[in-house]
Amino acid sequence: MEDAKEEIKSRLAVEDVVGQYIELSRAGRNLKGRSPWGVDKTPSFMVSPEKGIWHDFSANKGGDIFTFVMEVEGIPFREAMEKLAKQAGVELKKYSDGDKKIAQKKVRMKEALDLATKYYQVALSKNKSVCEYVFYKRNLNRATVKEFRIGYSPSTGKALKTFLEKKGYNQSEMDGAGLLNQYGGDLFKGRMMVPFIDTNGQVIGFTARILDQGEPKYLNTPETMLFNKSRFIFGFYQAKEAIRRDGFVVIVEGNMDVISSHQAGVKQAVATSGTAMTEQHLKILSRMTNDVRLAYDGDDAGVNATERAINIAGKLGINLSVISDYHGAKDPDELIQKDPALWKEAVAKSKPAVEWLLDKYEEKLDLTTANGKKEYSDVAMKVINYLSDSVERKHYEQEVAKRLDVTVEDLLSKKVNTNSAKRRLKPVKTDGMQDAKAKRMRFLEDSILAIMVFGGDAGAGIDLEIPEDETRLEELSMIYETKFKNQSPDSLKKDCLDMYSQYKKARTAERIAELSAELDECEDDEARAKEILREMKKLQKG
Ligand code: UTP
Ligand code: MN
Repeated sequence: MEDAKEEIKSRLAVEDVVGQYIELSRAGRNLKGRSPWGVDKTPSFMVSPEKGIWHDFSANKGGDIFTFVMEVEGIPFREAMEKLAKQAGVELKKYSDGDKKIAQKKVRMKEALDLATKYYQVALSKNKSVCEYVFYKRNLNRATVKEFRIGYSPSTGKALKTFLEKKGYNQSEMDGAGLLNQYGGDLFKGRMMVPFIDTNGQVIGFTARILDQGEPKYLNTPETMLFNKSRFIFGFYQAKEAIRRDGFVVIVEGNMDVISSHQAGVKQAVATSGTAMTEQHLKILSRMTNDVRLAYDGDDAGVNATERAINIAGKLGINLSVISDYHGAKDPDELIQKDPALWKEAVAKSKPAVEWLLDKYEEKLDLTTANGKKEYSDVAMKVINYLSDSVERKHYEQEVAKRLDVTVEDLLSKKVNTNSAKRRLKPVKTDGMQDAKAKRMRFLEDSILAIMVFGGDAGAGIDLEIPEDETRLEELSMIYETKFKNQSPDSLKKDCLDMYSQYKKARTAERIAELSAELDECEDDEARAKEILREMKKLQKG
């Protein structure tokens, strides 16, 4: 369906579709017209041909050609799609057949990958020197090797290919699964094989480590129809239970760090590929918890990655902290080899990310010089501005002022004076903070409702009102299709309950904030103040 949508979009210009309903005139790069919902006095309806979108500033809505037709005609998504498909000359049936074919191919590829995993597992058990590497050099035990389905790819040219051919899989299926190299032979040869396992427990690819020295150290499955690097979280399937149970997640850099950590009893560990963490990764994790602990290296790459993560986390309402007490080890795996207890301790003692970053900057810069102070205040204030919570931000402003031996007022006025136009920081408005929180609420509400309406039993027992509005339901259907369709009923149910409890907490916090604002206003009205305090107490008790 996504493909059909894209095809229709590529064939129809947004200004032509909108132009059938509204008279548009040019306004620079955009086009302008009057709102079809009749609430504007001056033209406030904008169309961007470049972006393929429209926005109505008086009615405060917007979107693409599909949402426009849905809104203006008051019809559900499906109907809008059919209508536009006709205009575009796109045959929808072809696409749903195409979808089916793709789904079938995906199933075949997953089967091939599962067989490959089993093949590699057997190959490991038969090879003494590789067992030596896995069990003694890497110190993995049997249970771990079994849980993570670790194996070995033989070094002969097409051992796996021949095996899979005998099982009835063809070149295109193996290639689609990312198992072949450019010459049509096995991609993985002579390496320790670690499968990428998706949230349903199915293998979607591999990371393969060379056994001795050599390049590359790790060879990974390329992007395929099944494996998407910017979404995939290594170890998530194995870590889900522990993350849910203990309410936090640990993000490490290496896949082997994840495996070692699990073996050491810290089963909340997952990895994104190296330090390349994306917003999608954090979004997926934030469905389970908002306590995210990073175990990145203290090198420049680690500092940059942490800075980036703070920025994303601010938007998603996540509490970020950094695990840094490595006792001289270079990564968690090495620390665990020294003593698993040290790793557990380090995880328990994670430091708020901003504090960690401020410490890093302080180490790097000389705060006794004017230039050092200037640079420190620049980078520190930049990071502090990512924070969406005003109390937290105040806290760090005070902290930075203290470290620089100036007053907070000095610091804040300096910010205005010294930031050249290019580096000027956007003033953080309270609205921005509310936005972040409201966004998180909407994110949770959307997800929960989508599961309630389209997820069968998974949403049972949740006390939220289901919307009746067609458009909203279509939107929820899209959310369900893109985010939850492939999850097993059990894990869906758990995710849903989890999000619901986060949602309730956030709603309570919101109400408390409202009440305390009202309390500030009603100094004279003692009766009302008492009433407010009573309600606040009740809410705080839960
Ligand atoms: P590291 O080299 O830090 O991994 O790379 P590691 O786990 O400590 O490796 P060992 O302990 O020597 O076996 C971290 C991550 O970066 C990616 C992998 O995802 C790895 O887990 N990476 C690294 C690659 O993709 N390819 C490489 O060649 C190296
Ligand atoms: Mn390592």
